Amino acid sequence: MSYILAIETSCDETSAAVVDDQKFVLSNVVASQVEFHRKFGGVVPEIASRKHLENINFVVGEALEKAGLTFKDIDYYAATNGPGLIGALLIGMTTAKSYAFVYDRPLVFVDHVESHIWANFLNGNEPELPAVAYVISGGHTSLYLMNENKEIEVIGSTLDDAVGEAFDKVAKILGLPYPGGPEIEKLAEKSKNPVSFPRPAIDSPDLNFSFSGLKTAVLYFYRKNPDKEIADIARGFQDAVIDVLISKARRALKEMRLKSLIIAGGVIANKALRHAFMRFAEEEGVNLSFPQFEYCTDNAAMIGARAVDAILQGKVGNYSTAAYAISRNR
Ligand code: KG4
Ligand code: ZN
Repeated sequence: MSYILAIETSCDETSAAVVDDQKFVLSNVVASQVEFHRKFGGVVPEIASRKHLENINFVVGEALEKAGLTFKDIDYYAATNGPGLIGALLIGMTTAKSYAFVYDRPLVFVDHVESHIWANFLNGNEPELPAVAYVISGGHTSLYLMNENKEIEVIGSTLDDAVGEAFDKVAKILGLPYPGGPEIEKLAEKSKNPVSFPRPAIDSPDLNFSFSGLKTAVLYFYRKNPDKEIADIARGFQDAVIDVLISKARRALKEMRLKSLIIAGGVIANKALRHAFMRFAEEEGVNLSFPQFEYCTDNAAMIGARAVDAILQGKVGNYSTAAYAISRNR
């Protein structure tokens, strides 16, 4: 049995995990920085880097302690090298490089967005392959085709805002704190009379998305109807997003002639969205996989899971591996 110590610092979560070579999680520690960014209404890159630097060694230490291991027991050091905030990524990467150097172990660098998909393979879960894989996060909304060898190819992507980004922007319009996704979800549960918003790109013949028009529709509606219950606006927005996401999943599965769907990314933490996907899967006989709740939003366990297969595929890193800000395959 070999062990991987994985690090995630691409945005505002400082996380370290120990995962074994069968992708079982021995520990997964996540230190959120949300309270430091909230007053600015979004993530401030320089604050993110500084907080990662302050916390990373403690988070790594705690991950080892919870796993009941020491540095000497670790066989590989893994981190994400993008996409994300460059300064933030560098803290995690440099930490991994330093431990790998001191303990003379190999380094593995993996893609953050791909890793979200790998959250579905943790703790003995084996989604049926080939599958359509859907990443619905704060920075990305993309559809992929994943083959039996877990090689992925982009088949659709957002042309503007990612879904999580749209949630956060709509929350801001409605005067809710950052991050907006969970706030919209809570508020939407109270709605009795949801507003009907447009479903952008729902009928377009491709697999691409566009959410900035929906966000603008919410803005104009809110300006024109300041007395409307914001719960009804939140619910109307959430319903529109879910409708578009499900309809694109249906189209992708049909085009690829597949019956297996993997969903991933921070927005999947949304219960209404998960339930809508579960209903869809049941109605259409689709085999659906989604991560355990704690592995939906950013975490290092998913980085560890991705690293296990990267090692098998020979995609390891070295001391000169660089960080990148923007997805290479969107
Ligand atoms: O995957 P993630 O943790 O980070 C990125 O890689 O982007 O996703 C964060 C995004 C944020 O935009 C956040 O508002 C959204 O996921 N999110 C949610 C919920 N929880 C997190 N959106 C809707 N409902 C939620 N419950
Ligand atoms: Zn993420």
